[in-house]
Amino acid sequence: MKRPLQTALLTLTALALLASTGQARTWADIKKSGTIKIATEGAFPPFNVLKGKELTGFEVELANELAKSLGLKVQWVTQPFDNLLIGLKSDRYDFVIASHGITPERARAVDFANPHYCTGGAIVTKPGGPMTAAALSGKSVAVQVGTTYLENVRKVSGVKDVKTFPKDTDAQAALMAGRADAWVGDKFTGIELVKAQKGKVVQGALLFNERIGMAVNKGNASLLKELNAALTKSLSDGSYAKLSGKYFGQDVRCK
Ligand code: ARG
Repeated sequence: MKRPLQTALLTLTALALLASTGQARTWADIKKSGTIKIATEGAFPPFNVLKGKELTGFEVELANELAKSLGLKVQWVTQPFDNLLIGLKSDRYDFVIASHGITPERARAVDFANPHYCTGGAIVTKPGGPMTAAALSGKSVAVQVGTTYLENVRKVSGVKDVKTFPKDTDAQAALMAGRADAWVGDKFTGIELVKAQKGKVVQGALLFNERIGMAVNKGNASLLKELNAALTKSLSDGSYAKLSGKYFGQDVRCK
């Protein structure tokens, strides 16, 4: 499915304008209820993925650990990526963990926790395809809608066609099916894709770097403080390092 660029831009603008209803649960509310409501997409391996009925992935396990260290039970909600911050603004859950890059546009609408990993947007293509930003000129590129990949591919001059997909995995499929010359997505996802496709695709240059953070509704300072404290603890007591090693074979924290 293809959505015009304008729609994606409108979504971002609307998001920034959408006023918070002021109903966001404070830390005291959440603590009292004993359960925190967390939203993710569930279609972004290896970060957040719904396998049958099981929600798993680096971010899902990390958030479960953070909630546990805060003494809370977790209720997970899955939403299409493009709806996640809108749902947060309407207070349908307490926070979002879905690999959101911390951008000035998003930071106008929501508040970000300290980054929980650092990464970049990379090009993946078939052997002989475009490997650099310059080589994307005249080519078609597949990306997930509402993402920093879309935003950054739009800045590359000469790209013939940017094809957007509601799901990142569908954007990858477009590359595999030859409906796009390249896919731009997360560099760690790209590494997995190359591995899974056994040489049918190769990873090219990084287009940009980004810091990834959890988001709370604008002004929810009490929750943000607790999330940051739990993350800091996890980063220093070895639990983050263990989880990162399990998923990536390396420590993906921001240095
Ligand atoms: N890091 C990119 C961004 O900030 C992509 C995130 C996509 N996340 C997902 N759950 N599909 O836009």
